[in-house]
Amino acid sequence: MLAAVALACPLSADGTAEARPLTAAEALGLAKRHDRKARRFEKLSRREVGRARKALAHKSGAPMAARPERQPKLKARSHRRKAKRYAAKARWHRRQAARLRRLAGGLSKVPPPPVLRRAPIPLGAAVAWDEFESDHRLKDTFLSHFDQMTPENEMKWGHVHPEILHWNFTTPDAMVDWALAHGKRVRGHTLIWSKQNPSWVENGTWTRESLLLVMKNHIKTTIAHFRDRVHEWDVVNEAIDFHGGWTDNIWYRVIGPDYVDYAFRYAHEADPHAELYYNEQWLDVADHPHSQGVIELMRDLRNRGVPVDGVGMQAHVTTQASGSQSQVSELMGRFTELGLDVAITEMDVRTEGSDPSAERETQRSVYGAYARACRLEPRCTSFSTWGVADPYSWYEDPALAPLLFDGDFNAKPAFHEVQDWIRTP
Ligand code: G3I
Repeated sequence: MLAAVALACPLSADGTAEARPLTAAEALGLAKRHDRKARRFEKLSRREVGRARKALAHKSGAPMAARPERQPKLKARSHRRKAKRYAAKARWHRRQAARLRRLAGGLSKVPPPPVLRRAPIPLGAAVAWDEFESDHRLKDTFLSHFDQMTPENEMKWGHVHPEILHWNFTTPDAMVDWALAHGKRVRGHTLIWSKQNPSWVENGTWTRESLLLVMKNHIKTTIAHFRDRVHEWDVVNEAIDFHGGWTDNIWYRVIGPDYVDYAFRYAHEADPHAELYYNEQWLDVADHPHSQGVIELMRDLRNRGVPVDGVGMQAHVTTQASGSQSQVSELMGRFTELGLDVAITEMDVRTEGSDPSAERETQRSVYGAYARACRLEPRCTSFSTWGVADPYSWYEDPALAPLLFDGDFNAKPAFHEVQDWIRTP
């Protein structure tokens, strides 16, 4: 079907019609050009937003020649209009880039052509420190095969800030220092979520203002603590429910939907150079109310200048239910056209069938689809699994065998598949 699209919409480098369909390499080359144009328009759009803000800031400044109270507003409105126009152009180019990349994904069934060359994408894993400390095989496997660590629970609110006046960074400090000493990067996970909050937060009596203060203090203290060591954070986790509405949690109930804005703004104030992610489950196909809800939230945040940099796509899937490469690529494209980065942050693939060797093969191809989507998307920044080896998966059912290393800590076919896609230059 994709090849048919290529024939129906032939494109050439100079934009004129071309008689033959595009090759994958050509489609990717064109996608890159659209990306460059999109970046230029995004920059122009940001500049206009800044000018609009400046115009309003000068509202009470120097006197204006005529209708003094209206001029700054008019000026700001005109800048905002320009910003909108530029943003629309940027989105159009992002869409074209995403379409071409999907096309390239469908055309290229063989190992990536030279045009796909890019720096290796870091392979990450969630790590539970107590398990690491008690089983050296786990630690060794991580050291030999992974580039990046996500503390599985140890940075969550209930762990680092269990009482209102008590902070405890001992375990995440040990993890981060150990990772950095071994040349691994760390993703911070997670600042604001509905789960694993301490009871003083969940059961406190709050007003919107007092809960915002508590949230601000938590985010700023945590990010400041790791500021020189952790440069990427899941700021908000799972704010959108399965049907595309707001997840019911204390933040939403007491503060309202703009808790997400505040969380990102506080995080940005704490470390303006950190990469700030919105992390979410069930992001496997674009055409689902949940994904649509997340896309809308991201569009809204970006339009209002909230400092969100990327979307973490968790990918807890199964051998029976997952996205295909083109579906994942399409969804990634929906985020990148908004100017966001993407990352696969928590992948695992539960094996649910009865034939173990067929299951391993399916698992290999499911992992491969997501890894390939990440490889084909220049803004896919890392690929992480939620754990290192099957015996230590958070599912706690060894039969599900969802990870890249088996019960004997041997690499499964899925590991080689992922590695081929994300690491081969
Ligand atoms: O620490 C206590 C321990 O003191 C107690 O003895 C034990 C008894 O069950 O529980 C321990 O806490 C458990 C904690 O993991 C640490 O092992 C909690 O019960 C358990 O609920 C918690 O589960 C974590 C889960 O998030 C919470 O929802 C999983 O380990 C963790 O893998 C999982 O991770 C989430 C991501 O953060 C966000 N995305 C989804 C992902 C999977 O659910």
